[in-house]
Amino acid sequence: MQRIISPSLLAADFGNLQSECEMINRSEAGWLHIDVMDGVFVPNISFGFPVMEAVRRHCTKPLDVHIMITHPERYVQRFAQAGADTLTFHCEAADNPCEVIGLIRAEGIHPGIAINPDIPVKALEPYVESVDLVLLMSVFAGYGGQKFIEDSYGRLAELVAMVRRINPRCHVEVDGGINKQNAGKLFELGADVLVAGSSVFRADDPMQAIHELLNN
Ligand code: DX5
Ligand code: ZN
Repeated sequence: MQRIISPSLLAADFGNLQSECEMINRSEAGWLHIDVMDGVFVPNISFGFPVMEAVRRHCTKPLDVHIMITHPERYVQRFAQAGADTLTFHCEAADNPCEVIGLIRAEGIHPGIAINPDIPVKALEPYVESVDLVLLMSVFAGYGGQKFIEDSYGRLAELVAMVRRINPRCHVEVDGGINKQNAGKLFELGADVLVAGSSVFRADDPMQAIHELLNN
């Protein structure tokens, strides 16, 4: 599968969202990653629909929306209306993940399912056949700028084997602490989408940082 970098808007300059979106449009980023946090599922609160709608107006790339919220089923339609192309929720945040996947499909967008580092990869197995993306967190969801958890390599290898067996067209995305030191190995292990917040938006040259993540 084609390799994709999905820069996380969480590390962008929110005073200059339009120019940050225009940089993404000009860059080799395949998608733009949008982290929505509710202060309940995770201890942090990020931003909501008005910000996402503004980003949608300026960004020409697909919006890869990662929701770290409880009861994701309540907001599927709102996220679709706000411009999500892919909507990824946490397996451990939903009472009935199959229902959430069905609601996302019904909106005509791509369903994704995520797990935190303390959830066994096996927990995703029942859902792999019905999603278009699985997201492996390589830090605990909640904050940008955390250190990559080294255990994630082994978990990724296990996840890639499972996805190739059950649903080979499903994207495998890794999120958290990704930089040019670890990106190459993650791609080699079979991830095809890498999220990068700090290592893109805090770089001296974000477009060059995206280029280097993609080609290392
Ligand atoms: C963490 C978010 C990540 C995060 C990535 O809860 O899901 O997407 O913003 O940021 P970096 O690349 O700085 O770890
Ligand atoms: Zn994320």
